[in-house]
Amino acid sequence: MRKSEKRLPSRNEAEQLLEEGLLKNPGRWGDHSRNAAHCAEKIGEASGLDKDRCYVSGLLHDIGRSVGNVQLAHVYHGWKMMNAMGYPLIGRICLTHSFAMQEIDGYGGAFDLAEEEIEEMKRELGHLVYDDYDRLIQLCDNISGASGIMRMEDRIADIQSRYPRYPEEKKIITLRLVDYFSRKTGADIYDLACGGNLVDHY
Ligand SMILES: [Fe+2]
Repeated sequence: MRKSEKRLPSRNEAEQLLEEGLLKNPGRWGDHSRNAAHCAEKIGEASGLDKDRCYVSGLLHDIGRSVGNVQLAHVYHGWKMMNAMGYPLIGRICLTHSFAMQEIDGYGGAFDLAEEEIEEMKRELGHLVYDDYDRLIQLCDNISGASGIMRMEDRIADIQSRYPRYPEEKKIITLRLVDYFSRKTGADIYDLACGGNLVDHY
C-alpha cells in the first residue's frame, strides 16, 4: 500500500518522525508527546477508537515544534508537514489540538505567523466538525506533562504560568473533556492513563 493510501503513519514511522524532530529541536516536548501518545492509546481504546491511530496522533500532535521554539507556529507547521507527507488525519490533529474552542483567538501564546497563514488556519478550522480523535488529543495534551500524567487542573495552571493568557471559557470547555471521556469509557480517565499515578508538575 502506498503512503497516500494508508493516510496514517505506522507506530514505528511516527516514533522515527518524533526522533528526527527532536534532533532538530531538542526539548521536553518529546516526553510530553510520548506521554500524550500513551494516554491517547489507553483512553482511546477504552472509548472504542482505533488505538494505533490514537497513539500516532498523540505522538505527532506537536511535531510542528521540530521547526524550533515557536508557539502558534507549531500548529501551522505540524499541519502543513503532515499533510505534505500524505497524513491528513494527523495534519488535522496538529491543527485542532490547540483549539478546544474551535477558534484561533483562544490561543494563549504568541501569534508568530504571517497574517495569511493565520487566515489559512482559520478557514480550515471553520470547515471542520470535531470528532472524538480531535477531542481525545485535546484531552491528552492537557493531562500530559513531560514528567508524567497530570490532573488537568494542574496542567492548565502550568500552561497559565507560562503563557500570557488562557481564556476562562477555554478552561471550562477543556475541563469538560474529562467528563466527556469518563462517560464514554465508564472509567476514571486518570486510572486508564496511568493507574492514577499522577505527577503535579510538567
Ligand atoms: Fe502538546
